[in-house]
Amino acid sequence: MERIFGKPLIPQREIEKRVKELGTKITADYEGKELVMICVLKGAYVFFADLVRNIHVPLSVDFMMVSSYGARANSSGVVKIISDLSTTIKGKDVLLVEDIVDSGLTLSYLYRTIKSKKPKSLKLCALLDKVERRKYDLPIDYVGFAVPNKFVIGYGLDYRDNYRNLPYIAVLDISDVELLGRK
Ligand code: IMP
Ligand code: MG
Repeated sequence: MERIFGKPLIPQREIEKRVKELGTKITADYEGKELVMICVLKGAYVFFADLVRNIHVPLSVDFMMVSSYGARANSSGVVKIISDLSTTIKGKDVLLVEDIVDSGLTLSYLYRTIKSKKPKSLKLCALLDKVERRKYDLPIDYVGFAVPNKFVIGYGLDYRDNYRNLPYIAVLDISDVELLGRK
């Protein structure tokens, strides 16, 4: 039998359905525009790959890798860009895609950074929104699911770089981690 890690929160079928809905909405909103989709690595890569295949307007993709030293570790809230965009986004309609918004630090930092490159428009899309934890206010244009204030894994989201390959989203059960001897 397949070992289920964590407590399943959002099953695969529900994710598929919601990603399709988001794709339909984004397709309608970007008809006739010059869409550039930016994936925030690593967490958003699974969602991003599914989302782009549900969007039916011409688009190009780019990637940014960031690491956050969030409010918990550093009160100044530092976001470090590990790998930057490889294309010019000036004058383009940009959609930034993130896995989860927690405090909002990462996305608000990226919003300002990308905005300074003068895109024609900039919108935000996040698969998950931990509404309760929000510290930095920002408008998220497309949200997959609101989630409770629990640590979640799967479908691209990690705990110390593990569990990204789970096809569903689960609440991390710390006893599973101990069972596997992972830290
Ligand atoms: P924020 O900057 O506080 O909004 O945190 C967002 C980032 O923290 C995301 O890009 C994730 O990488 C990570 N993160 C926050 N909550 C979770 C979670 O529950 N599971 C996995 N990663 C998370
Ligand atoms: Mg992330």
